[in-house]
Amino acid sequence: MILVTGGEGLVGSSIPGAGLLFTDIVDGCDERLDVTDAEQTRRVIAERKPEVIVHCAAWIDPDQCEKDPLGCYRVNVVGTMNVLEAARAVGAKLVYVSTQLIFDGQKKTPYLEDDPACGLQQYGLTHFVAEQYVRSYDNHLILRTSLCHGRCRNGRRYGFVYWVIDSLRQGKEITVVDALWTTPTGVADFGRCMRALIDRDATGTYHHSGSRFLSRYAFAVEAAQAAGLDPSGIRRIDMDQLMAKWVARRPLYAGLDSSKVEREYGIPPSDPFAGLRAPLA
Ligand SMILES: NC(=O)c1ccc[n+]([C@@H]2O[C@H](COP(=O)([O-])OP(=O)(O)OC[C@H]3O[C@@H](n4cnc5c(N)ncnc54)[C@H](OP(=O)(O)O)[C@@H]3O)[C@@H](O)[C@H]2O)c1
Repeated sequence: MILVTGGEGLVGSSIPGAGLLFTDIVDGCDERLDVTDAEQTRRVIAERKPEVIVHCAAWIDPDQCEKDPLGCYRVNVVGTMNVLEAARAVGAKLVYVSTQLIFDGQKKTPYLEDDPACGLQQYGLTHFVAEQYVRSYDNHLILRTSLCHGRCRNGRRYGFVYWVIDSLRQGKEITVVDALWTTPTGVADFGRCMRALIDRDATGTYHHSGSRFLSRYAFAVEAAQAAGLDPSGIRRIDMDQLMAKWVARRPLYAGLDSSKVEREYGIPPSDPFAGLRAPLA
């Protein structure tokens, strides 16, 4: 059995196939599990005895993390340590989902798995620290991805790209920054990649994200076109204007190079526009 933490969220929801047990702090899942509660985490995992734990429970809003660094540390680092100890106790494989925001964005081309990382803000830093704990356990798999969009188990669509599409559909003008580059990812592809690597008992660190490295602005324009919309309502803005609203620093060029997982397992990068060409419900 594969136990998923944060299983009501976007990434946890995306794992396909049978034998899954979804846990989360929110309602709707198979079992409530707050990963910051060490005793509850140990008990649920000891009772369920999963072969694999996919750990997706996290705080993911960089600005919320920056405003409340202790809260962020408690969920993203202490929560991961609790899940790690519980996994160790039952001998389960631990799959940890990490992020492109552990990188500083200075490289200007997509990052490889072994590139030096640190995190420019609490969100990235806590994921970087959590990764180090996870690596202390031999039976681990770390999968990093970037800027996901798709559907959660509750049917809701999540992701920057839907904000763009929904705004244009409503005739609104929007402003999108051109200076932030990444490799946007269709979360269904990432979920399939996770499942394939679990089924093949992969270990170590891998990247899996979109095939295109492009700016937020370019992504918004292409996504609008893929969805059959006129992109002229998207206005380009520069970073200074956004930083007036954002609390956390963002790396400028934070894409992921997914060639290792393709080379070793034949899994291609995600097509970030695939799901957008069909009519959106
Ligand atoms: N989405 C992306 O673009 C993206 C990109 C790269 C990496 N990732 C990583 O992938 C992982 C999953 O992200 P996601 O996008 O699926 O986020 P998400 O949709 O916010 O899902 C995370 C889930 O964890 C829950 N959670 C929060 N605190 C918890 C706790 N103490 N115990 C148990 N569950 C808790 C959240 O509940 P609440 O909603 O109530 O907080 C939410 O349901 C994260 O580590 C994230 O950094 C995501």
